[in-house]
Amino acid sequence: MSTPAPVSTSAPAARKKVTTLTFRRKKERREPITMLTAYDYPTAMALDNAGIDSILVGDSLAMVVLGYDNTLPVTMEEMLHHCRAVSRGAKTALLVGDMPFMSYQVSVEEATRNAGRFLQQGNMDAVKLEGGRERADAIRSITGAGIPVMGHLGLTPQSVHQLGGFRAQGKTAIAAKRLVEDAMILEEAGCFSIVLESVPARLAELISKRISIPTIGIGAGVGCDGQVLVTHDLLGLFDRFTPKFVKKYANFHVEMQRAFADYIEDVETKRFPAHEHTVEMDDTEWDVLLKELNHSH
Ligand code: KIV
Repeated sequence: MSTPAPVSTSAPAARKKVTTLTFRRKKERREPITMLTAYDYPTAMALDNAGIDSILVGDSLAMVVLGYDNTLPVTMEEMLHHCRAVSRGAKTALLVGDMPFMSYQVSVEEATRNAGRFLQQGNMDAVKLEGGRERADAIRSITGAGIPVMGHLGLTPQSVHQLGGFRAQGKTAIAAKRLVEDAMILEEAGCFSIVLESVPARLAELISKRISIPTIGIGAGVGCDGQVLVTHDLLGLFDRFTPKFVKKYANFHVEMQRAFADYIEDVETKRFPAHEHTVEMDDTEWDVLLKELNHSH
């Protein structure tokens, strides 16, 4: 693990709001784009203060916060609830709301209406949805309504059953060619950026060079224009499993359990609450109270 950089918890110098234009400029200047997930107010605030470019309210919410086995059960209402919390905490990062399973697959109209809800009711700046050429019509309609769309190719977790598990994609020449084509179709359909998940690094680099919109990699190597991770993985908060591509920067699950165990012990041994955690009452007032109580007996 590398030496942690010094962190200031005081309010950072004002940053300009990150937009889809910032994404494009960063790609042109070959400056890596930084993105992480958040699902609540304090995490969003910490990410924003740390200077992150973009926050994804991912449907990974289903797994790392709500405890489901995959991302399929999370609903529009749950996503919007967490989007609003994140938007209260982050004022500068580009906020991307992840469209949940079945919110954009049934029809182009439903996809467009639900994408609109992420902006109107979730205070997001953009939406993300999974899939390649089969999503082109929905992407055209959503971007036609003025809503920026981030695509998502490779390992698309909402298709976990079709893919036969959470497994790397694009490892054969045929599958890789299809991903290159899909990336070009998504760019043509109007996406401002594309997440590439769990694909070979050299394929991700090739795609990143072929298209003019930025690619954001997760398990896709250093050749992408930016990187995203699930924050709970990076912090070691999600203990069930850690994908190979995750770098853990902390072990908060262990730390959290230690803090809870210390609290339980403190309460059981009456070390907590101590004097400094206790509200005191003035002696004079106390004496008056005792007299009053004695009188009434
Ligand atoms: O839901 C999510 O967190 C994601 C990232 C893994 C890109 O889609």
